[in-house]
Amino acid sequence: MSRERALDPRLQLLHDRRTVSRLGDPGPDGDALAALLAAADTAPDHGRLHPWRLVPLDAADRAAVSTAYAHAQRTRDDRDDLVERAASKPLRGPCVIAAFARTVDHPTVPAWEQLAAAAAAVQNLCLAATALGFGSAWRTGWYVETPEVRAALGAADDEQVIGLVHVGTPRPPTTA
Ligand SMILES: Cc1cc2nc3c(=O)[nH]c(=O)nc-3n(C[C@H](O)[C@H](O)[C@H](O)COP(=O)(O)O)c2cc1C
Repeated sequence: MSRERALDPRLQLLHDRRTVSRLGDPGPDGDALAALLAAADTAPDHGRLHPWRLVPLDAADRAAVSTAYAHAQRTRDDRDDLVERAASKPLRGPCVIAAFARTVDHPTVPAWEQLAAAAAAVQNLCLAATALGFGSAWRTGWYVETPEVRAALGAADDEQVIGLVHVGTPRPPTTA
């Protein structure tokens, strides 16, 4: 007899959300994108501080962020393949949403709770993407800590970049 419990179908959505690295068109359009952002905004938020900011990047933003990734990579190791790979990262998939967290000194809501709320907002975004039939991938990496990438993303001095969330239609894996 299998020891595995049958999955309660009401929880299927949570289990269906898996990182999808290969994303193609279509991405979320205006209404779907607005729905994703609205879902993110229902995250639990102690003190209602709304310590997150979610910004869909347009083509010009993504080109600028790609250039910044390439620059950051060149500064660390300027091997052509690494630079090319770095530049490609922010261009993957039809839709990228930059996620920022801003924590403040608060008498009853410590900074860690604010960061947790911001992370919950991103998870809500990813779950909402799954609910609407999209795939998503939550990425960070050292690039997002660099001054050039932060500047290209429009991060304020007191904001932490907590992710680039790629959203699109899952594409089948390539076969060799
Ligand atoms: C804050 C945060 C940042 C992440 N950054 C990356 C990343 O830069 N690269 C990566 O491969 N996975 C990253 N991940 C992990 C993936 O989003 C994913 O959760 C992981 O690959 C496991 O896959 P799953 O979501 O299908 O379980 C990050 C996760 C979190 C929560």
